[in-house]
Amino acid sequence: MKKILWLASLVLVLGSLGMAQKFRTFPEIKQSGKILIGTEGAFPPFNFFDEQNQLKGFDIDIGNAIAKQLGLEPEWKATAWDSLLIALNQGQFDFVIASHTITEERAKAVDFSKPYYCTGNVIVSKPGGPQTPDELKGKVIGAQLGTTFEKFAKQFQPRDLKTYQTNPDAVQDLLSGRIDAWITDQFTALEVLKTRDVQIEISEPVNTEKIGMAVAKGNSLLVAALNQALDEIQANGVYEQISMKWFGKDIRCK
Ligand code: ARG
Repeated sequence: MKKILWLASLVLVLGSLGMAQKFRTFPEIKQSGKILIGTEGAFPPFNFFDEQNQLKGFDIDIGNAIAKQLGLEPEWKATAWDSLLIALNQGQFDFVIASHTITEERAKAVDFSKPYYCTGNVIVSKPGGPQTPDELKGKVIGAQLGTTFEKFAKQFQPRDLKTYQTNPDAVQDLLSGRIDAWITDQFTALEVLKTRDVQIEISEPVNTEKIGMAVAKGNSLLVAALNQALDEIQANGVYEQISMKWFGKDIRCK
């Protein structure tokens, strides 16, 4: 069933390619004074809602810094992970910053900025559980639906692959033993250790992923503006400050 949903959303994303593109060009955005930014809001510490129901995280700070650099007021809209890129191509926001890995498949449906950070997947288990790709064979693995984590997990012949609408949904199943391992991003795994009193083991990163902002297919002036603003905040110290705040290190791609 989940597989079907995943396929259906892929078909929708690809299908939207054939439709007339709806997007605001950078001059149109400039003229309005506002830039509409889409994110998910369930991927701590990158994008999440805090106890006051405010959007917070590294993605949010970077999005705000980019808007500021472009002289624009940001307006945020949170949307479920599996509809973000579809909504983007429907013109619901100007760009998406939600920790999307730049993949060939996604690049058929949307255009990506230069990577705004680099990271890697990790294998998370309870003490004594699988910690290497080899050990995943025959195990029950959990991952967020429609992510590179899900794709990654599939390669290792799990006995079962359980998918979740949001990334943190998998944590409960890991702790209760319903899954043997959770595939996620290294920083999201560390965030669980930091914010919850749980016994988990986190592997070393097992791959490298480049993370980008997405714009509607063909919105080239906007991509150019985002890339320039990213270069500028990476040169003037703003990026570093934001990265230090969330991770204690600079996570830009080397
Ligand atoms: N980087 C991974 C991917 O692109 C996971 C991103 C999940 N982001 C989120 N907001 N839940 O598939």
